[in-house]
Amino acid sequence: MYPLSVDQPYPRNQWWVAAYASEVGRDLLARDILGEPVILYRSAAGEALALAGICPHRAFPLAKGCLVGDAVQCGYHGFQFGPDGACQNVPSQSGVPQNARLRRYPVAERGGLIWIWTGAAERADPANIPDVASIGLGRPDWAVEEHPIKTVDGRYTLLIENLLDLSHVTFIHDKTIPGGEKVAAIPVSVIETQTSLTVQRRGENLPLNPLIKMQFPEQTGPVHQHFDSEYLGPCMIRTGGAMYDAATGAELGIQNYIHIITPASPTRMHYMVMTARNFGIDQPHLGEIQIGMGSRIQPEDIDAIEAIERVLQSGATMPQEISARVDNGALKVRRRLEAQIRAEAA
Ligand code: FES
Ligand SMILES: [Fe+2]
Repeated sequence: MYPLSVDQPYPRNQWWVAAYASEVGRDLLARDILGEPVILYRSAAGEALALAGICPHRAFPLAKGCLVGDAVQCGYHGFQFGPDGACQNVPSQSGVPQNARLRRYPVAERGGLIWIWTGAAERADPANIPDVASIGLGRPDWAVEEHPIKTVDGRYTLLIENLLDLSHVTFIHDKTIPGGEKVAAIPVSVIETQTSLTVQRRGENLPLNPLIKMQFPEQTGPVHQHFDSEYLGPCMIRTGGAMYDAATGAELGIQNYIHIITPASPTRMHYMVMTARNFGIDQPHLGEIQIGMGSRIQPEDIDAIEAIERVLQSGATMPQEISARVDNGALKVRRRLEAQIRAEAA
C-alpha cells in the first residue's frame, strides 16, 4: 500500500500509543487501533487496561456498557468480562460458555501516554518503547503540554513523511510558524542509529523571531536553531530541538514537538502532539502559546494529508513519483518500515 511496497499497511509487533494517560480512567474509552475497536479503562487500583471492544456474544460495542468493579459489563445482555478479558458472568445462566473471552492487549504507561502492543502478547517487551524521557516526557524538569487528539482521514505513513520533510514548513506553515520561511533552504543531513533516524537541519544565525523572543526575553541577537525530525518508530516523531545564542554558542534551551501517530485503520489515523521544553518550566504562558500555535498549525498539516489521501483514493492515474535530495530521510524510513513489516510476515 502506497507509499510502502508491502501489502500489510502497518507493523503489528509494535508499541503504539492508545491514548493520553489523562484520557483513561474509570469510564470506558473507545478507540480504533490498527483496524480493531479497543476499549481502555483503569482498574480500581489505577492500572490501565485495554481489551477488545466488541462483545463476542452478539457484537455489541462494549464501550456502550459499563464497569462493574474491574469487570466490563456489556450493555446489551449483561455478559461480564474481567480485566484479563475472561467472561466471568452470563446473567441468563449459571456458568459461562467455554472460550468466552476478550483479547487483552499488553499495555504500558510511560511519559503520560498509554502504550498498547498490537502484536503477539508474548513478544511485548516494554524495553522497546521509545525512550520518551530523553525527549522530555514524564520528567519533573521539563514542561509538557498535551494538544487535543485529532483523527485524520489519511494513512499514517503520510504523516510520517510530512514530519520527515520539514521543507513543507516554508510553504504550508508560512503564516503560522515564526521564522518558518527559512527552513526549506537549510541543508539537511541524515543520522541513523539502530532505534532512530534523524533528519537534521541546523539553522545558523537566524534572526530572532517573536516566538523565541517570548521564550527567551533576555535574548537580543540572532540564534542557531535545530529543526530536527527524529523518527523513533512509526508511532512517534520528534521535531524541533535546541536553540543557541549565535554570539556565544551558549544553549538557550530545547523545545521539542512530539508527534504521536496511531493508525486507526489502513486509511485513518489518530494524531496527538505533545510539546516539551526544558526552560521556563514555571511559565505556563509559554505552554499556552504552544497550544495556541498548535491549534493553527496542525490543521494545515491535516488538510494537506487529507487532500493527498483523497488523491490516492480517487483512482486517478498517478504520475511517476519523483523525489528530491531532501526526501532521503523519508525514503530510508520507508525502507525501514517495509523491512519491519516483511520481517513480521516471514
Ligand atoms: S451482545 Fe454483549 S451480552 Fe449480548
Ligand atoms: Fe507541518
